[in-house]
Amino acid sequence: MSYKQNNLEIEQLKMKTKDKFSIPKFKFPLFKVYCPRSIGKKIENAMKSGEVSEGRFSQKFEKDFSKAFNLNDKKCVLVNSGTSALTLAYRVMNLKESDEVISSPMTCPATNEPLFNSKIKVKFADIDKNTGNLNLEHVKKLINKRTRAIVTVHWAGQPSDIIKLRKIIKNKNIKIIEDAAHALGAKINNKYIGHHGDFICFSFQAIKHMTSGDGGMLVCKKISDANLAKKLRWFGISRDFIGNKWKQDIKVSGYKFHLNNLSSIIGIEQLKTIKSKINIHKYNGLYLDKNIKNEKIKLITRFEGSESSYWIYSILVDNKNKFRKYMNFNGIRCDEVSFRNDRYTIFKKYKVSPLPGTDFFDKHMLNVPVGWWINRNQISYIAQKINEYK
Ligand SMILES: Cc1ncc(COP(=O)(O)O)c(C=O)c1O
Repeated sequence: MSYKQNNLEIEQLKMKTKDKFSIPKFKFPLFKVYCPRSIGKKIENAMKSGEVSEGRFSQKFEKDFSKAFNLNDKKCVLVNSGTSALTLAYRVMNLKESDEVISSPMTCPATNEPLFNSKIKVKFADIDKNTGNLNLEHVKKLINKRTRAIVTVHWAGQPSDIIKLRKIIKNKNIKIIEDAAHALGAKINNKYIGHHGDFICFSFQAIKHMTSGDGGMLVCKKISDANLAKKLRWFGISRDFIGNKWKQDIKVSGYKFHLNNLSSIIGIEQLKTIKSKINIHKYNGLYLDKNIKNEKIKLITRFEGSESSYWIYSILVDNKNKFRKYMNFNGIRCDEVSFRNDRYTIFKKYKVSPLPGTDFFDKHMLNVPVGWWINRNQISYIAQKINEYK
């Protein structure tokens, strides 16, 4: 990753002087919402002109996003949340109750609840205790002739090894669905996440790398899948129809998953600085990778060719409560984010075998901040405090 200090500092200065932030409780919060000043007037104009629902700003956001991450905009489907993106991916696949899906237990319930709601049979694979991502050896064991999809989460922005996963499912009729809610700007072999799986689901929820209030993007490998997803996004009706759209027949029943113009304006404005922000996340994450040296702390393993987007920085600690207290005392927010899903009643039946990697990760994993609001001096302070922990 190339990192230009000048650009970084100019960007941070611009953000400090021009923009407003939510007020954090901690000196170094785990998350922060970026609010470009340019948003206010644009939203006001859209409100005054009545252009509130899905419209030209939604189309522009979809196009600008695809351009920023080198994607074909015909494959991108803008929706109102990451959960909606996942729901559409499962729906486009036409999964049936008799089908099986292998998924990760270490994630936000949003990954698995749409499957639960559609009564699709899910099997939790164990996760790798050193990454938080799917343990591919265990995935191999769970595959059978009913397996139709594997849902893989890029935990904290560290890509799961899609290239290896592809090899495992070679010649099988199994699709890869990537939950990339944490992984905007992450790469495998120099290609952005969004270019590898069959369906890739991003989230623009409040605390992600960028936000549109709520929002999400489904990226489909096949344009035909994206076309179907676009129809399902809005009641099964095509928005491209010339004339009164409601006169079209509805042959597949859909959802109301579109992102409105107001949220899209926020998304468009956020996109303008997303690359420099992601670079700061990456700089800070790499800094901790190189500089944490404490035998009580274990770092996440990263495979050759992968580039994390370091949404947050997960570490494995000997004693979670002790470490959390120590970091919080030093003004550094340190906490869990999502919890293993098999702790929830609705998902208990998805646990089909022991999950020792998940047990370990759950017991030892905590997160510290590395986001765009943390500058060079501050990241070195965070590293220093981690190294001083006894
Ligand atoms: C891993 C993961 N998947 C999916 C989601 C759902 O995204 P959204 O809140 O945009 O629906 C989230 C978080 O919100 C998440 O952390």
